[in-house]
Amino acid sequence: MSSTALITGASSGIGLELAKVFAHHQHNLILVARSEDKLQALSQELSQTHGVKVTVLSHDLTNKSARQTLFDQVQQQGLTVDVLVNNAGYGDYNEFANSDWDKLEGMILLNVLATTHLTRLFLPPMLNRKAGKILNVSSTAAFQPGPMMAVYFATKAYVLSFSEAIAAETEDQGITVSTLCPGPTQSEFIGKSNMDHAGLANSMTIDKIPTAAEVAKFGYEALQKGEVVAVHGLSNKLMAFSTRLAPRGLLRKGVKQLMASN
Ligand SMILES: NC(=O)c1ccc[n+]([C@@H]2O[C@H](COP(=O)([O-])OP(=O)(O)OC[C@H]3O[C@@H](n4cnc5c(N)ncnc54)[C@H](OP(=O)(O)O)[C@@H]3O)[C@@H](O)[C@H]2O)c1
Repeated sequence: MSSTALITGASSGIGLELAKVFAHHQHNLILVARSEDKLQALSQELSQTHGVKVTVLSHDLTNKSARQTLFDQVQQQGLTVDVLVNNAGYGDYNEFANSDWDKLEGMILLNVLATTHLTRLFLPPMLNRKAGKILNVSSTAAFQPGPMMAVYFATKAYVLSFSEAIAAETEDQGITVSTLCPGPTQSEFIGKSNMDHAGLANSMTIDKIPTAAEVAKFGYEALQKGEVVAVHGLSNKLMAFSTRLAPRGLLRKGVKQLMASN
């Protein structure tokens, strides 16, 4: 029997590329994001190219009742979610005190609440079947505080901590929970998050930044191996490791410099 993967944030960037990798490996798909037209176009492309069944369920995942409706629609359509990918997320580059509150609230609702709620909804049926995989997309931002993106970094630290805990709770019950931690990646994220102004973004040339396709392939492979924490790229792995050794004050200073606007 073929497996079905539900992917949030599948209309662009890493989520869209994850959908392509899953389809390539013959998984049926449930694609979720707000942009229904983009999801329908992707659905047509993937079902024609790979012969997989693709269901489009367009929702704003910042909305609690939309998340419950998504779960109910999946049940009503008789679909089984074998793989849950919580990928939808966004950031915002700004001093905290000057940040737009609605943007910050939406970020917490999407990055934290939607990831937690969808895991709470889809994990119990997986436990009943004693089989299932969850891939939560965090970031290298999870490993240290992030001046100028304080809330974003904190949401990604939450995703990492939450996912590792659920991985430990479920490890002997046929479930794997993997956390993908990409560093800066080519997608709409940097532009949408106003990160173009950050020293970090300006210090990198676009062709040196990994593509969303490279990150998606890495994430898919980590999920298949059941890796609990998967940091993409050697330099990101070294950075994540070094944050464990560096004194906290030094770490804050270093990240503050890196994140300062040019
Ligand atoms: N790119 C990077 O440098 C980078 C680095 C580390 C981690 N990440 C993480 O990777 C994940 C994917 O980001 P990306 O780089 O692929 O960015 P992206 O190209 O901006 O994609 C974000 C996706 O999230 C969806 N989304 C946004 N708001 C939503 C909402 N309210 N409800 C449902 N879906 C929503 C978007 O679709 P709609 O607009 O159609 O809803 C889109 O499909 C995020 O969690 C991000 O934090 C990215």
